[in-house]
Amino acid sequence: MTASIAPLKQSTSIRNKKGSYWITTFGCQMNKADSERMSGILRKMGYQLAEEELKADLILYNTCTIRDNAEQKVYSYLGRQAIRKKSDPHLKIIIAGCLAQQEGETLLRRVPEIDLVMGPQHANRLETLLNQVDNGHQVLATDEQHIYEDITTARRESSICAWVNIIYGCNERCTYCVVPSVRGREQSRTPQAIRNEIKDLARIGYKEITLLGQNIDAYGRDFESGEFNKSNKLTLSYLLEYIHDIEGIERIRFATSHPRYFTKELIEVCAKLPKVCEHFHIPFQSGSNKILKKMARGYTIQAYKEIITYIKQLMPDSSITSDAIVAFPGETHDEFEETLSIIEDVKFDLVNTAAYSPRPNTPAASWPNQLPEKIKIDRLKEINSLVEKTAKERNLRYRDSLQEILIENINSKDNSQLMGRTRTNRLTFFPNQSGDIRSHKPGEIVNVKINEIRPFSLTGDLV
Ligand code: SAH
Ligand code: SF4
Ligand code: F3S
Repeated sequence: MTASIAPLKQSTSIRNKKGSYWITTFGCQMNKADSERMSGILRKMGYQLAEEELKADLILYNTCTIRDNAEQKVYSYLGRQAIRKKSDPHLKIIIAGCLAQQEGETLLRRVPEIDLVMGPQHANRLETLLNQVDNGHQVLATDEQHIYEDITTARRESSICAWVNIIYGCNERCTYCVVPSVRGREQSRTPQAIRNEIKDLARIGYKEITLLGQNIDAYGRDFESGEFNKSNKLTLSYLLEYIHDIEGIERIRFATSHPRYFTKELIEVCAKLPKVCEHFHIPFQSGSNKILKKMARGYTIQAYKEIITYIKQLMPDSSITSDAIVAFPGETHDEFEETLSIIEDVKFDLVNTAAYSPRPNTPAASWPNQLPEKIKIDRLKEINSLVEKTAKERNLRYRDSLQEILIENINSKDNSQLMGRTRTNRLTFFPNQSGDIRSHKPGEIVNVKINEIRPFSLTGDLV
């Protein structure tokens, strides 16, 4: 799962009642999905989207703390707003998301200008919390919550592709990772609630959904002793079958998969169901069994490769993407090379890479065998050039091929072009012109013949 920064830009026609708001989202798809829900809540409350960040009456930073640099970025953004609040005391500053959960009260002490600190489990409670702020309180909401079904309408960034949370939290204990401590225990949504949300999305024109969870293959296991799952049937495979027939939805994706729980049954279900796209994001983290053990990942690299082999056997065109960490505490040069060699072997379509960053309250952060910054930088450089090379090689298979593209938008850099994705999730651009016909719109699925290949995107012509 990639961590990035994205301002949530939306035009709006709702009248300004409460003032204007601005959300900046740091981090992964989970946070983006939470931001869309919080944006929906703010609009329902009467806020309208600000034209620019520095003019907004309410600032919401939905934060990430996966690595130290993600955390530092938030503080630098926050500094600007704290200064602004000195001259504009009505400005409301909200810090939501994973850093908010991790730092809690410390954040309020460090930046007293903040009005509300709220962990990710509180996203759906934004209205209640803001009402407390309006009553003159500085609010801290980081206690463990049962996540209530979201009854608000999310304000989604795309009108074609939507994220649908199916499981919150993570019960794994990877020794480097801060997510379980900031996102809490696993909580699966019921299949009925998920199906209803997707049906509503289909009704308003969405064509593609991505099911979301930090460890999506764990879907349903928290139901095991519960009323819904008397026969232990509520798995991700079951869910895919259960939602597959929803009319209007053309494509189904899911992320992020954990190799420990990626079953043969799941691969078979994906191969059988036509709407499930041939793209699998399965982080391997390290190519060394010794490091995997220290990371407490619960699989060997051989088991990982078996999963990939079976996927490729049943769905030869699949794209496989992954995440890897280099310079984990004590990683030797040979162990690092094992990571490089799995990239060569598997020929990933993309690998998100990062140098290990020690995180608060994680076991690996206190180990004495931390590697120096120089090794982190060198290994990251080396792995990134290999990733780019393999991605480019993998892309060669698209040359002159015919790809089914779901049109998502007009290319913002060239509005004579449209943009969309292949089923394998490759970004593809093409001129909106086929002979004299120039009428394709977002939401349509078209065939595009690929004639230009770059490491991370493609260009082609309509057929
Ligand atoms: N749930 C997913 C990943 C979530 S975090 C999984 O189990 O794979 C997204 C990615 O950030 C991870 O895959 C990992 O590669 C990276 N990451 C997490 N903690 C990190 C740390 N302390 N230092 C560097 N990278 C980290
Ligand atoms: Fe973090 Fe591991 Fe959970 Fe992924 S599975 S979120 S890496 S603890
Ligand atoms: Fe995601 Fe960052 Fe939280 S990667 S789960 S937003 S720590």
